[in-house]
Amino acid sequence: MDAPVIHEFDTVIVGAGGAGLYAALELAREGVPTAVLSKLYPTRSHTGAAQGGICAALGNQEEDHWEWHMFDTVKGGDYLVDQDAAEILAREAIETVIELEHLGLPFNRTEDGRIDQRRFGGHTRNFGEAPVKRACYAADRTGHMILQTLYQQCIKHDVRFFDEYTVVDLLVEEGSARGVVAYRIADGTLHVFRAKAVMLATGGYGRAFRITSNAHTLTGDGMALAYRAGIPLEDMEFYQFHPTGLAGLGVLLSEAARGEGGILLNGKGERFMERYAPTLLDLAPRDVVSRAIYNEIREGRGVDGKDYVWLDVHHLGRAVIDEKLPDITDFARIYQGVEPYTQPVGIQPTAHYAMGGVPTDVTSRVVVDDRNTVVPGLYAAGECACVSVHGANRLGTNSLLDILVFGRRAGRDMARFAHGTDLPDLPADAAEPVRGELEALRARKEGEPPARIRRELADVMMDDVSVFRTDESLRRAQGVVRGLRQRYAGVRVQDSGARFNQDLIEAREVGYLLDCAEVTVTAALARQESRGGHYREDFPERDDANWLKHSLAGRSDAGPVLRYKPVTITRFTPKPRTY
Ligand code: FUM
Repeated sequence: MDAPVIHEFDTVIVGAGGAGLYAALELAREGVPTAVLSKLYPTRSHTGAAQGGICAALGNQEEDHWEWHMFDTVKGGDYLVDQDAAEILAREAIETVIELEHLGLPFNRTEDGRIDQRRFGGHTRNFGEAPVKRACYAADRTGHMILQTLYQQCIKHDVRFFDEYTVVDLLVEEGSARGVVAYRIADGTLHVFRAKAVMLATGGYGRAFRITSNAHTLTGDGMALAYRAGIPLEDMEFYQFHPTGLAGLGVLLSEAARGEGGILLNGKGERFMERYAPTLLDLAPRDVVSRAIYNEIREGRGVDGKDYVWLDVHHLGRAVIDEKLPDITDFARIYQGVEPYTQPVGIQPTAHYAMGGVPTDVTSRVVVDDRNTVVPGLYAAGECACVSVHGANRLGTNSLLDILVFGRRAGRDMARFAHGTDLPDLPADAAEPVRGELEALRARKEGEPPARIRRELADVMMDDVSVFRTDESLRRAQGVVRGLRQRYAGVRVQDSGARFNQDLIEAREVGYLLDCAEVTVTAALARQESRGGHYREDFPERDDANWLKHSLAGRSDAGPVLRYKPVTITRFTPKPRTY
């Protein structure tokens, strides 16, 4: 490898999904020279896969208030939510959605021309009474529209994009962020980006599971790079399974289908959610619905005794389906060969979203401990971060909101920080450690393919660390992940070339997935209670006396080391959760 190319920018953003793009736009508006690095073309970022909506208590269809939204977020997160952050999320939702509208996002409209809104799981009126219409949407491609709108604005404001650059190291010197090292996929060159501030906006790590709604690029890069740089990961035991992935594939079928009136049926044709959530039924939060589906399947009431149930939307009629659910009904036609106008669609829970990630404060600055000590110059937002607005279980549509509210906050604070700081020094050999790792990987002549490790990891995470967990399943998973880690040290890539070496990149990504998986399993094994997306069959109750606290997993040679920090509670005292 040649000597790295050196770049200097005031700020660098890693990832061009909604969080990265909104931060970039804010920085551009403030005149801060910014580089956005993406391993994809930006509009292919995973934000584009978010379908059903972005919530805000606009009250366009029925009465709504940000306090109700905040309450639902806190309760939905099983009270592990930091309530100062949830208050910001619910309050700033309103101006954020209106700004999106002004930036040109083509929302569906009401008869009188306002942004239309629909129901989504766990969003209620008057503190839990009944579902409320809070999700603003553009058919079932809301995330896609957000990406297009923000990218177009960034281009208009001359944001500098580095497409198909994958970041391979985060440079933290003397406790402060100083830049990143990136690998240019087109030609295999290394690039050092020296910067006053760095933002991680790289999304989640759903590819650690066999059945997932996540794109192939969702390999936990930002989380793993932060972890390797000495930053702990927060609440990684909480992983969300979305109830309705296409059976066998995991491709997302939006909760909007149920928001519009679609229903879940078991193999006997029963509307089984009546037994699990009598008030909210199919619109209970995702952890509740996913557990109910797993339970039906386990008790033999899946379709033909198999591992899936039905999602039925046929009664909504063609007009509603075509106007509001066009993409997901096409997915059913294409991948399952069924016609949703007349037939139910086979679905099963699919690994969807990490509630945990790189810990931040409410201005998206990365923090490292229970005193919220800031890493100067380092920011994170979106799924790779944990602020924590989702606690133990995220409500649908709160993720598009989270990326925008906290992406924008990151941009604003990075601008403030950059204006008051000089470009930091970097050692001349800043790229050497990662260059050595990449060269070693490329030069190895013997060893197993990383794809095998990736497959075994995805199997054990799916079978033993999913909707139901036990001490036994988690110990088994821990043993497997440790074994895979050892084997990973000897993997070999077949392609030793420089141009578009996808083999090398995928090998690197398997390492990130292993880091994220190991932390998830370790934190899940330690947490002896059930809360939100973390359900321990051997500890089925929530235990506030001992476990109303966030986990922080730091890296050591012997594996993750756990510490804990308190949850911020302001308005809503934890109560038992019923729906
Ligand atoms: O179901 C969905 O449309 C997904 C939305 C989300 O994860 O927020």
